Amino acid sequence: MVTVDDIEFRSVSLDTSLRSREVIDQEIADVEAMTNHHLSEPYSIFVYRFFINNWPELTLLAHHKDKLVGNIICKVEPHRNARVRGYIGMLSVDDEYRGLGIAKTLIEKAINLMIEKYGCDEISLETEVMNSKALRLYENFGFIRIKRLFRYYMNRHDAYRLVLPITENSTICSSQLPQLENPKEAVY
Ligand SMILES: CC(C)(COP(=O)(O)OP(=O)(O)OC[C@H]1O[C@@H](n2cnc3c(N)ncnc32)[C@H](O)[C@@H]1OP(=O)(O)O)[C@@H](O)C(=O)NCCC(=O)NCCS
Repeated sequence: MVTVDDIEFRSVSLDTSLRSREVIDQEIADVEAMTNHHLSEPYSIFVYRFFINNWPELTLLAHHKDKLVGNIICKVEPHRNARVRGYIGMLSVDDEYRGLGIAKTLIEKAINLMIEKYGCDEISLETEVMNSKALRLYENFGFIRIKRLFRYYMNRHDAYRLVLPITENSTICSSQLPQLENPKEAVY
């Protein structure tokens, strides 16, 4: 039986000195196909390229014997110019590999990277109000529901915005915080 120890976790690499452009493009196409298959919202290739080109190390892949079985796609940006906010854009795991802890591992690795590399004050995401699996998964990490977004998705379902506070800045109103000195440098 496959366990999470049999799964290889790594970031996307766009380094053409290590792999050909065709191999890299195929990997991105596989991530796009998998994510679009599992999420209700259709995203264009430009959305994937935006995340992956700017923050390649924050797109983490899970492979079992060269088969892509899970991925998480994240970014980091300043929020109201006052704090650094990580964002989990997409997460999906192949049906046959669910319940093994792959999503938990992807989330844990992504959170650690966003804290260690970018000094995130908080991490946010949205998920459908009816996605009880995802809500349980994220709430077990300490994410809290901060907003209900009416008809947020194209299927007209509402979303919850969830936030995981990391630093004290996350708990202070942004208007009361000093502005980030160089917000672009803080995140790129
Ligand atoms: C949500 C999803 C990513 C979970 O992936 P997974 O690898 O099976 O999740 P894990 O094995 O790491 O399970 C982690 C936690 O998720 C929750 N969970 C997973 N499967 C569940 C189920 N069938 N029912 C309720 N909770 C469930 C549990 O809290 C579980 O922790 P536990 O085992 O300690 O109870 C996967 O079901 C999926 O790809 N769904 C479609 C896309 C999606 O909904 N993405 C998230 C929204 S952005």
